[in-house]
Amino acid sequence: MIVQSGVTCGRDLSFTRRYKRSQSSQHLRRLLNQNVGVDDIITMFDHLIQSSSSVSLLGTLLVLLLVYFISSSSFSSNADGKQPPGPKPLPVLGNLLQVYIVSAYHLVLSGFLLFMHLFTIYFGPKKVVVLAGYKTVKEALVDKADVFGERDPMKIVESSKGHGVLWSNGDSWKEMRRFTLTNLRDYGMGKKACEDKIIEECQHLIEVFKTFKAFDTTQPMNYAVSNIICSLVYGSRFEYDDPEFTSMVDRTNRNIQLLGSPSIQMYNLFPWMGRWIADRRESEEYTKLNNKQNMKLFSQLKETLNPQMCRGFVDAFMVRKQTLEESGVTNSHFSNENLLITVRNLFNAGTDTTATTLRWALLLMTKYPKIQDQVQEEISRVIGTRQVQVEDRRNLPFTDAVIHETQRLANIVPMALPHKTSEDVTFQGHFIKKGTTVYPLLTSVLYDETEWEKPHSFHPAHFLDKDGKFVKQDAFMPFSAGRRICLGESLARMELFLFFTTLLQHFCFTPPPGVKEEDLDLTPRVGLTLNPSHHKLCAIPRL
Ligand code: HEM
Repeated sequence: MIVQSGVTCGRDLSFTRRYKRSQSSQHLRRLLNQNVGVDDIITMFDHLIQSSSSVSLLGTLLVLLLVYFISSSSFSSNADGKQPPGPKPLPVLGNLLQVYIVSAYHLVLSGFLLFMHLFTIYFGPKKVVVLAGYKTVKEALVDKADVFGERDPMKIVESSKGHGVLWSNGDSWKEMRRFTLTNLRDYGMGKKACEDKIIEECQHLIEVFKTFKAFDTTQPMNYAVSNIICSLVYGSRFEYDDPEFTSMVDRTNRNIQLLGSPSIQMYNLFPWMGRWIADRRESEEYTKLNNKQNMKLFSQLKETLNPQMCRGFVDAFMVRKQTLEESGVTNSHFSNENLLITVRNLFNAGTDTTATTLRWALLLMTKYPKIQDQVQEEISRVIGTRQVQVEDRRNLPFTDAVIHETQRLANIVPMALPHKTSEDVTFQGHFIKKGTTVYPLLTSVLYDETEWEKPHSFHPAHFLDKDGKFVKQDAFMPFSAGRRICLGESLARMELFLFFTTLLQHFCFTPPPGVKEEDLDLTPRVGLTLNPSHHKLCAIPRL
């Protein structure tokens, strides 16, 4: 997770400046190739100092330290042909110092990633194998799906106790994932019934947007997106001024930020530090409150349960549990714990991710008004003023490309979630032991320089052919791949398309008065997912 902050720290600059920096990383790549010479170091520093006015003395010192670490430790520690190579770890700290240096200076990390496709790094005492680049990530997650498809739960999520879908493994995970997928599909995921729910929610969101002048999009977007998962899970949506609903969504949002905080990362590595970590207590308090709220909702649903007419996932789960109990099955996975944790997983994973992506999309449209104009021209020409439908997607190639490019560049889950190996494996000539934590760096796939023409720019043409038709790209992997691929992908894709297109049809997005487009900051706020930093937008009605 600490690498994650490293990957993203660098987005404090505009994409143009980042591109310049990536050129500097070529120098670093050469350094990492072990040909460390004084001339190289001097050249790199010259380049760094010229290419970025924000290079501070601290940054320079950090780079020097990193060069020292890399050249003095063995990046070729696999001379014995065993585990994937990596910098030599220090006792207790492992490679934390190097990684923190990397975090503080993203340029170094991009150099690191460009060079290595498979490496070992020690987060304190924890050994992690990192997969980087499209080919390596695909080879592991897809071609060797069974070996790389286990989850490695972090300490902070231990209250899940192996239940639910996100953090579980084995038979319980298999059963919960299968049941959840089947039932969400039954309640409309990826189908017409769900399309109608999203369209209805779009209307509520439009009304809210109309009431604001310059506003922060976080809450309305979270409430609208959360209502879709609520409709599927509980069987009904909530009003945006219902305090029980809004507090649950707000707590979830804050919790996702906390889970990515440096202090909780330290707690995951050194659990004995827990008692001094305030963020951990705050996070656990939110989890408790959301559990309580869910228990209340479950008991209301149970009182009115009709097995002939299930309203959503919770009803279906309770009916299955009852049926199994009545037929004398005592060892099933359909327990109260699995119900609670699975619902919590769906609520958490189904709200923040999609809402964050939509917020990035609106921010990018505001920053790049010419692209916004092109989207609106296409919507006006193809749809006019009628309601957008899912089947319109194939006639809106530019809009579709913009949505895909937003997901690629926003890169909201940069390292997927931690995986682990289910057995000993020899991978790309290196030995990886059963139970080793594996981080598939989705960033390195979504920004892979060998797959994308302009990896660091917002460039919708990545998804268009020369005739302007939409083209799929294999390295488009924001939902990850293989056994643990996002369970909600079809729902998320439908939501992104309908919300984005309907909002762009109804509004023109501009910066608040006094702010220029170029001032809009694309630095992400680091959490378990990457959110846009705090900003406000204006939504000017078009229809
Ligand atoms: C733009 C929106 C979304 C993105 C980018 C996204 C991305 C991801 C990623 C990267 C993972 C981890 C995969 C891995 O570990 O390899 C994941 C897992 C998961 N997602 Fe999503 N997701 C999105 C929306 C949703 C929605 C709407 C739902 C709810 C239905 C959902 C439910 C889940 C679940 C339950 C998992 C755990 C799967 C497992 O471990 O078996 N996600 N998602």
